[in-house]
Amino acid sequence: MKMTLDELKEKCADCTKCGLCEGRTNVVFGYGKPDADIMLIGEGPGENEDLQGMPFVGRSGQLLDKFLAAIDLSRDKNVYIANMVKCRPPKNRDPKPEEQEVCIEWLREQFKVIRPKIIVCVGRISAQKLISPDFRVTKEHGIFVEKNGVLMMGTFHPAAILRNPNNKELAFQDWLALREKAKEMNLDI
Ligand code: URA
Repeated sequence: MKMTLDELKEKCADCTKCGLCEGRTNVVFGYGKPDADIMLIGEGPGENEDLQGMPFVGRSGQLLDKFLAAIDLSRDKNVYIANMVKCRPPKNRDPKPEEQEVCIEWLREQFKVIRPKIIVCVGRISAQKLISPDFRVTKEHGIFVEKNGVLMMGTFHPAAILRNPNNKELAFQDWLALREKAKEMNLDI
């Protein structure tokens, strides 16, 4: 029997499949419209996300919300946001391949329930796991590729833009391209 997103979230809250569970305050399962056509996948929870149990609620999240608002999208209305790993890696290090490998099972279950038509990989970590292992954000950002019937696109992580604001305009072009693609596909947004 297919689970609802809430049932899945409840199960995920008890997950001990990798060592990241030891340091977490909260599992950051994901947030947004449960049947969104557009899903965003970040890297993993940071300190604020771990404390609040919500994805992208720190400075990066504020920038992400600004990009979304600029193209008439929002996590409360028409997108769903999750991460490659659901527990905070210590000192915000990159999630290890083996941690991503076990956690992707939860993400797969989320994909099955939400059934997004477009997946945006926010940053290198999710783009390399979900699009291609050698994905280079600087070279391949904003390019849509189809995988198993779903359109996928990778873009700059907002934390990288905060570190290097020169990439802000390029990132904005990617979000505009997302809006165009969504319009072209007549998505429910
Ligand atoms: N960075 C991410 O990749 N995800 C979050 O939820 C917060 C910061």
